[in-house]
Amino acid sequence: MDTEKIREQFPILSREINGKPLIYFDNAATTQKPQVVIDAMNEYYKTSNANVHRSLHTLAAESTKLWEQAHKEVADFLNAESDKEIIFTGNATQGLNFVANTYGRQYLKEGDVVVISELEHHSNILPWLQLAKEKKIKVEWLPVLEDYTLDINYLDYLKLKYKSRLKILSISHVSNVLGMVNDVKKLAKKIHSVGGVLCVDVAQSVAHMPVDVKDLDCDFLCFSGHKMYGPMGIGVVYGKKEILQKLEPWITGGNIVTKVWKNGAHWAELPQKFEAGTANVVEAVGLMEAINWLKNYSWEDRREHEEKLTSMAIAGLSTICDLEFLGTKSLEDRIGVISFQLKDIHPHDIASLLDERGVAIRAGYHCAEPLHTKFDFGPSARISIGIYNTQDEVKVFTDAVKNISNNFRK
Ligand SMILES: Cc1ncc(COP(=O)(O)O)c(C=O)c1O
Repeated sequence: MDTEKIREQFPILSREINGKPLIYFDNAATTQKPQVVIDAMNEYYKTSNANVHRSLHTLAAESTKLWEQAHKEVADFLNAESDKEIIFTGNATQGLNFVANTYGRQYLKEGDVVVISELEHHSNILPWLQLAKEKKIKVEWLPVLEDYTLDINYLDYLKLKYKSRLKILSISHVSNVLGMVNDVKKLAKKIHSVGGVLCVDVAQSVAHMPVDVKDLDCDFLCFSGHKMYGPMGIGVVYGKKEILQKLEPWITGGNIVTKVWKNGAHWAELPQKFEAGTANVVEAVGLMEAINWLKNYSWEDRREHEEKLTSMAIAGLSTICDLEFLGTKSLEDRIGVISFQLKDIHPHDIASLLDERGVAIRAGYHCAEPLHTKFDFGPSARISIGIYNTQDEVKVFTDAVKNISNNFRK
């Protein structure tokens, strides 16, 4: 994989920050966008902009075609059975709220149980806690063990305890703090054995490994376009057709009906009945382009590239005294997300000092505060690696952290 050729396709990477070349290591928060994505979105507004599923003119037909094509591309990308299983939302957060507020709201009753885990992003915690308050259901947490792996056997204990009251397991594929991959397939078997459904948050995995809804055997799956080189403002919910067909819409309004009368409505077919209001067509066009762009690079090549950089970053950080990792140093089953702390230096200071050198990282709890609390860790600094990062950038980063560690202690 020619990283220089990849970098040339991302205009933002030629920027300077504080007089230094930008080194962008905040890919878990959002990735940068290649020129083809920017161009496709510009072109849409220049040539085909119109509202979908409404007017009968040519532009409306073109726009509707693109919107429907985007559903097909995403279905193909996820190996879904049909484009009817693909619902566009604004982001992963809205997707997880969709699952809680459709399936959760409609099927769960007092005393039922939703299982999440201690390593979830707040987006996969708070919708369930809100639902629990309202419906008097219980939220159980799969623990994270001392070696940072998920205690998936705890689900066996919960199965014995709650049996068929165990209704939903909602779990991330990859933690946005630890970077480690969870064994979703094993969890799918366990939750299905008591008749529960599995929702997988693939926000962090979708840009770094194949995500196949059949292979994962999930019932729902959610992600955001902007973390996979696509635009902000579009997210995807995959749902098994037979489940979606029985669900009532959560957000109602225009575009989702075939008939409305004074005391009711007939909902449109899937996926339209869940996509109320004016569609985010330009973002769907951008997402479709990002998916096609990613296909230029094989998963194997990308994994090899990102794994090499991850191993360099871990090795470089490991030589710094008083640096503590939140997560394993192992390269097995992980992506290039690495969280750490330097003794006596606040992560916000680390991030600001790195920014002075042009290096963008994230600092704080990364919307995963329960995980930090579990390990009594406080906020952390996080580097996250993408397709366009280089070995030289990792070296600049690790040298800079070393320098900060040596010179900025209180
Ligand atoms: C694992 C995980 N889930 C969900 C989200 C929420 O994504 P968004 O803010 O795009 O809705 C994030 C964002 O960082 C994430 O890392």
